[in-house]
Amino acid sequence: MKRKGKGVFICVEGLDGCGKTTQTKLLVRRLGKKGYNVTYTAEPSCGEIGKFIKKYCLHGKKRVSSIVEALLFAADRYEHVDNEIIPALNEGRLVVSDRYVYSSLAYQGAAGLDLKWIEKINEHAMRPDLAIFVDVEPEVVIHRLKPKKSVMENLETQRKVREVYMKFVEKGELVKIDGNRPKKEVADDILTIVLRFLEKAS
Ligand code: TMP
Repeated sequence: MKRKGKGVFICVEGLDGCGKTTQTKLLVRRLGKKGYNVTYTAEPSCGEIGKFIKKYCLHGKKRVSSIVEALLFAADRYEHVDNEIIPALNEGRLVVSDRYVYSSLAYQGAAGLDLKWIEKINEHAMRPDLAIFVDVEPEVVIHRLKPKKSVMENLETQRKVREVYMKFVEKGELVKIDGNRPKKEVADDILTIVLRFLEKAS
């Protein structure tokens, strides 16, 4: 399916425990109150591959090969784009995704995979119109995480993941928001950036 509508696609990225899901949901609610037709979505998706990833890759006994992870996330993303994102964009909706392709670049890139290869297997996934990175120090997020941790939730992984995210911030592909502040301040900042972007885009 091709993107043909006038919808806008935004993704929110960050380390595990950075408050990204809370912030994404808040953003969706606040944009909705302002009259935008907004769709919240997330990766791993709620489709069959997404469910399999959660069980097999994130909450298995040990971490699977990063190549398997990258391929599964890319397959899940293909379905996510095709089944959820593009249909919503084609209806002219504003789609906000809690994680997208930058998560693969950061997490599977941090595991040692070539970023160019990760980009290649995600070729079908269109670039978001705006990508936000909620930045919280790895040392901070690690204390916030639930006891039932996923295989990604350890300090060493989170440090490497942040390094890769920062490469994309430096390249200007991700807009960094300081997530080390009260929830409302972070939410206000994200909303301001999104509204400014939407104004320019219209
Ligand atoms: P979350 O739903 O709590 O954000 O957790 C999803 C986990 O999956 C998180 O540790 C990041 C990881 N992940 C990847 O490693 N690669 C990906 O492409 C995506 C979308 C998520």
